[in-house]
Formats: sequence, structure tokens, C-alpha cells
Amino acid sequence: MGTGYLSYIFLTAFTILCLICVKKLWSFFKIRKDAVPVLNVKRQLETVFDTIKDSICIIDRDLKIARVNQSYAKSVGKSIKSVLSENCWSVFWNNKRVCENCPVGEVFTRGEAVENIDFTRNSGDETSYYKVSIFPVVDSAGKVCRVIECIRDVTSEKRVVEQLVRSEKLASIGIMTAGVAHEMNNPLSGISGTALNMLKMPHKYGLNPKGVSRIEMILESSGKATQIMKGLLHLSRKQDSVKVIVDLNALVSRTVDDIHFPGAAEIEKKIELGRWVPPVTCDPNQIEQVIVNIMTNATQSIKEKISLYESERRFFEGYIKISTCRRGDNILLSFADNGMGIPSEIQPRIFDPFFTTRPAGQGTGLGLSICNRIIEEHGGKLFFDEVDGLSVFSITLPLQ
Ligand SMILES: Nc1ncnc2c1ncn2[C@@H]1O[C@H](COP(=O)(O)OP(=O)(O)OP(=O)(O)O)[C@@H](O)[C@H]1O
Ligand SMILES: [Mg+2]
Repeated sequence: MGTGYLSYIFLTAFTILCLICVKKLWSFFKIRKDAVPVLNVKRQLETVFDTIKDSICIIDRDLKIARVNQSYAKSVGKSIKSVLSENCWSVFWNNKRVCENCPVGEVFTRGEAVENIDFTRNSGDETSYYKVSIFPVVDSAGKVCRVIECIRDVTSEKRVVEQLVRSEKLASIGIMTAGVAHEMNNPLSGISGTALNMLKMPHKYGLNPKGVSRIEMILESSGKATQIMKGLLHLSRKQDSVKVIVDLNALVSRTVDDIHFPGAAEIEKKIELGRWVPPVTCDPNQIEQVIVNIMTNATQSIKEKISLYESERRFFEGYIKISTCRRGDNILLSFADNGMGIPSEIQPRIFDPFFTTRPAGQGTGLGLSICNRIIEEHGGKLFFDEVDGLSVFSITLPLQ
């Protein structure tokens, strides 16, 4: 009886113990089961953070980087780990001190987001354009402990808009100018033909030396007018181009070497041709024309600076840096000169037909419009940037 009673107590205690263990195990597995989604959410958020195309950077009060996403790391060409605790102004913006107009401090003090601020970044001869938004991160005490900087690259959008505006301007003047230029060609040929004829037989036309020099002036002026008409026709009409596969590096070196106009010899040409530049399909004559036009402008600008320095009894060493490289699916060809530069207020107009700052009679203002037309016809882009005091004209040509 005593043993039976003891067994009964023992069995009951054992059952209770088992029940407790089962309960414990159940709650343990329940926690594990609930923990899976928490981990998943964290991973999902990290994946979202890393797959966002904009560059994102979390910054602390000392302007040190606390966290960046993959796009940010890719954009600066470094690993995520290597940029942590670095200064945000040096890693992304290539600055030696805090960026001018940096809004981060303001977001920390006011606790309000600032959005779509324009920023530029210079790397080499290239300028990239960004829209930057900064959002505060608030801790449990309601204080801003960090900020999130979202950086959107708008460089290609900007280029496309510029190109569209230029195309529209050209389209609107194109139809009229094509007609005018065509009609003007005949009378101009008449004028120059007659002037040439008179110069060949001055006695027949009773010309004394003064008369001869006047006729020469007529010939010169009609020649200039014919040049303008040719430029206009070039602008308003699709050119018959013969596109072939071209080694761009060879074309650039040949064309740059062949430039012998006055003043070009005293200007240093720094040619930096990329090693891995694949051939491009283009019309070599037209690309040569573009190179000559841009080099002519750069030379004129440097010559102007040389004369300015000379008038102040100073010496100026001008140079033009010509470089090629591959940029994704494009070839980038750029010309950087240290001439007079282009004032920011006229920069938006330099590609307009007839826009010139040259003295009367010295420039038609068609050079860059023609270059733009040619590059557009090649499916590329032509754009201007000011980089570290240099005037940089860049051309992209698509690889096919
Ligand atoms: N490298 C440069 N440096 C400074 N200014 C430039 C440069 N390139 C172009 N410009 C400016 O852009 C304007 C337009 O250039 P564009 O080549 O279209 O015409 P142009 O040189 O004035 O005349 P054209 O080329 O018909 O002789 C120039 O008048 C000049 O003010
Ligand atoms: Mg020009």
C-alpha cells in the first residue's frame, strides 16, 4: 500500500515535470518561430537599402559616415566598410573641407528635412550634377541623432534636357534658314563670280589700284557670306554622312597634330588617350570638323588670355588637354583649356546658332551649333562644364 502510494506520487510529479518541460519547449520554439520574421524583415530592409539606385549615407553629428548603401559605395569606387567613420565631405564630394552651403548642420539643429538641393562633384575633367535631400533621424528623447543623406545623380537628365532645348531651337529656325540659305547662294555666287572676273581683267573694266582693292574687299565679304550660308545649310539639313568603323584615338591624334592655324603652335597640347578605347562607328570627316571647331575656340580663348597677360607684362602658359576614355557604353572625348573661360551667364547660350562674343566680322557663332548637330546625328551628346577653372567640352559617342 505504502509502495503503491509512493509510485502514485512519483508518477504525478513526473507527469507535472513533463508538462512543465513541454510548455518550456513549446514557448522556446514559439519564440524561434516568431524570431524568423523579425530577422527576415531586417534582411528585407537591408536589401531594400542596398538596391536603391540613389546613393544613401547616414551621417552623425561630426559629419562622419555611419552607414552607406551599395550605390553610394559604387559611386565613390570604394567598399562600404572602408568609408565608415570617414568625413562625408571628402568621400563623396572630393572636398578638402566641409562643403559650401552644407545643409547637414541645419537639419541637425532645426530637425526638419531639406530637399532637392543642387550639388556638383568634380572628378578629373568631369562634373556630375546631383539633387540632394537630407532627412533627420530622431532618437527616443526627440533629439536628432543622425541624418540620412539621399543623393540622386541627375547628370544624364540634365544633359538630355539641354540637348532637347538645343534641338528645339534648331528645329524652329531650321526650316526658314534652309530656304533662305539656299536662295542666297545664287546671288552670292553671282557677286563673287563677277568680282573674280573683274580682278582677272582690271583694264577691261577700267579699274585703277584703288578699284582693284575695293573689288578684293567685295570678294572677301562675299566669301564670308558664302561661308555663313554653308554653315546654315549644314545646320538645317541632314548631312550625307559616310559612317565607318574608326579608331578614335588615331583620328584624334592625327587631327590635333594637323592643326596649324596662327597661334596654335605656342599652345601646349596634352594628349591623354585612353588605352581601352574600342573603335566607334562615325563619319571621320565630320568628327574631324568637330575637333577642329572645338580646338579653334580653345586656341582663340587662350590667345586672348595670352594677350591680356602680355598687356600686364605677365607671362601665361596656355594648354589644351585632349583626352579619350571609355565610359560604359560610350566613348568620352574631352577638350579642357585654361583660356579665358566662359562666364556663367552666357554658358546656356553658347550652343545657340549665331551666338558669338567675337568682335564683329570675326565669328559667325555657328561653330558649336554645327558641332552639336553632328554629334547629335551620331547619337551622342556634346556638353560644356567648368572644372577647376578649366573650360571643358565633352563629347560622348555611343559604342555599337
Ligand atoms: N573654349 C572656349 N573658351 C571660351 N569661350 C568659348 C570657348 N568655346 C566657345 N566659347 C564661346 O562660345 C561662343 C560660341 O562659339 P562658336 O564656336 O559657336 O562661335 P564662334 O567661335 O564665336 O564663331 P565661329 O566658330 O563661327 O567662328 C564663342 O563666341 C565664345 O564666346
Ligand atoms: Mg568657334
